[in-house]
Amino acid sequence: MLLPLSAALRMSKELQWGGRFKEAPDPELIAFGSSLDEDLVLAPFDVACSQAHVAALLGGRILEPSQAKELNEALETVAREIATGTFAAFARGGTFEDVHGAIDARVREITHAGESLHAGRSRNDQVATTLLLYARDRAARGRAISAGIARAALVRAREELAARTVLAGTTHWQPAQPILLAFWLGAMAEMFARGARRFARVFEDAARFCPLGSGALSGSSLPLDRDAAASALGFGAPSRNAMDAIGTRDIALDLAHACVRAVVDASRASEEFVIWCTPAFGYARLGDSASTGSSLMPQKRNPDPFELVRSQAAALNGTYAGAVGTTAGIALSYHRDLQTTKALAIGVVEKGLASLRAFARAFDVLAFDRERMSAIAGDGYTVATDLADELIAGGASARDAHASIGRAVAEAEAGGKLLHPTFDAEASVRAKKTAGSTSPAAVAAALDSLETELATFGDLG
Ligand code: ARG
Repeated sequence: MLLPLSAALRMSKELQWGGRFKEAPDPELIAFGSSLDEDLVLAPFDVACSQAHVAALLGGRILEPSQAKELNEALETVAREIATGTFAAFARGGTFEDVHGAIDARVREITHAGESLHAGRSRNDQVATTLLLYARDRAARGRAISAGIARAALVRAREELAARTVLAGTTHWQPAQPILLAFWLGAMAEMFARGARRFARVFEDAARFCPLGSGALSGSSLPLDRDAAASALGFGAPSRNAMDAIGTRDIALDLAHACVRAVVDASRASEEFVIWCTPAFGYARLGDSASTGSSLMPQKRNPDPFELVRSQAAALNGTYAGAVGTTAGIALSYHRDLQTTKALAIGVVEKGLASLRAFARAFDVLAFDRERMSAIAGDGYTVATDLADELIAGGASARDAHASIGRAVAEAEAGGKLLHPTFDAEASVRAKKTAGSTSPAAVAAALDSLETELATFGDLG
């Protein structure tokens, strides 16, 4: 297909290549190959990366100080345009392959010095570096949200410990043994603390090695000051192998993984909350601000945020698997497939963090019905294990104790009676003796220890 000359010229200015071609590219294929929709979110990080590249060019005396100044000023202008949204409009209005090309074009529009910005640089090292800066930013956010949820669960656990709220802990969703609600909330807090630690590990890895200066795959014959670039961006050191630096998406995938895992954790708690909110259970009530109604049934109070988090966990899991899949057959250097890897990973991260925030907001307005929970905590003969334990403590074998309490359960069930007139759910939790158990003392100790650890979770970055 032949384009009018003016359109072809405009495209060759907007694309960062074209000198070796005689015909204009097919606009439909350029649109198909564009990652702008997905990577526009990287814009602020590309500006930082470009400023660091200016430092590398200046340090290597490849740019005059006056050119470096002009470039940095132009990049500051672009940063402001990103913040106000005008840059997004500019980028969407052009024929750009990605956010990097759009920023390069905008800088060239602002200053003639822009023609020198790309010296010694490839989009390959630019994409790799920008993704690491993004990973650091989002890992810090993921960590803050996860730690926030862990802290919120801990605060609620302290309240419920003081109130001695008990519920029937379940396995297989069947009544198993009484537990303190504080113990359940402590488990939730532990889960999110683990997620916060996972995000911190990704943050650390993303701050280790700076790919900038790796070029397309083998380094540069220009004397780029890679140390200056790495330290300007807060990396520990320049990367050690240029081809590995541009060809890996490991850390972006690790970040996506940390997000998926955190949403899966939120989904497991959500599953329980959805059921707790049904009137049949009556354990909890979700506040108005997080509930939705029905367009037909006037009485409905639906816990949609928890259901959506549950479904996002499944969907993001699939997308994450797809992202890893795109790298499986890829030789060690850059291939365009990695653009799809990047787009999928970014999608998982953005939706994952949004899901975590939604979960946190809904959890904030979830109210527990202490009386209802505690009143039925002994139903389903949940104290049977403690009664068997008493027999064992008195000298019976485990086998005999199990069999005799089993028979007692069968009799009580047939007669619609309790297993023991005084040994109730509260007595059961008080009877627990092991560290890490649901006894009030063990729960208090566990919450103290977790709280001490959470206090050391400062902001990353
Ligand atoms: N849009 C591409 C990506 O996101 C940029 C890298 C292009 N490099 C290349 N050699 N074509 O992966």
